[in-house]
Amino acid sequence: MKRSHLGVICGVLIFVIGCQQEGGQSSTASNTATSNQTPAQTPPATTTAPVAVAAKAGYPAVQDIFNARCMPCHSPSKRRGGQDLTSYEAIMKGGTDGVMVIAGDPDKSPLVMYLTGAKKPKMPMNAAPLADADMQTIKDWIKSGAKNG
Ligand code: HEC
Repeated sequence: MKRSHLGVICGVLIFVIGCQQEGGQSSTASNTATSNQTPAQTPPATTTAPVAVAAKAGYPAVQDIFNARCMPCHSPSKRRGGQDLTSYEAIMKGGTDGVMVIAGDPDKSPLVMYLTGAKKPKMPMNAAPLADADMQTIKDWIKSGAKNG
């Protein structure tokens, strides 16, 4: 009788240990399976499409900014303040208060002063101010001589 009891206890113990081992093994197996999963494919390197303005420099970039932000108030038919901003010649000619671009000196150029708000009304009128990058593009263009190119 005693031997058979021991046998049962041993059997139970072996069963329990066996189960634990199996559990351990299976969890190890699942870990391995997880780490073996093929990593998600790295997407091909993409380049952010440059804004038209950022791709250009000098007068063409400035004209892009004016076309986007200063119309229709400064078109040949509207010309608020006498200022047409649709061509190089018109920009350099200025408005009713005279020349707005002083080549080589952005800080003294009334055009820049209207954009910063140093001269009122601040331009673009009744609209969000120009982005810093656009402002810089305009200043750089004036500083380097406000050339037609
Ligand atoms: C919603 C209409 C409107 C928009 C948009 C606008 N302007 Fe003006 N702008 C005016 C008006 C109106 C005046 C005249 C203000 C005054 O003299 O009281 C003016 C005047 C000016 C003048 C002065 C001209 C002069 O000889 O007195 C400059 C320079 C100017 N704007 C530049 C710009 C630029 C650059 C932009 C775009 C970034 C712009 N404006 C966008 C309405 C606008």
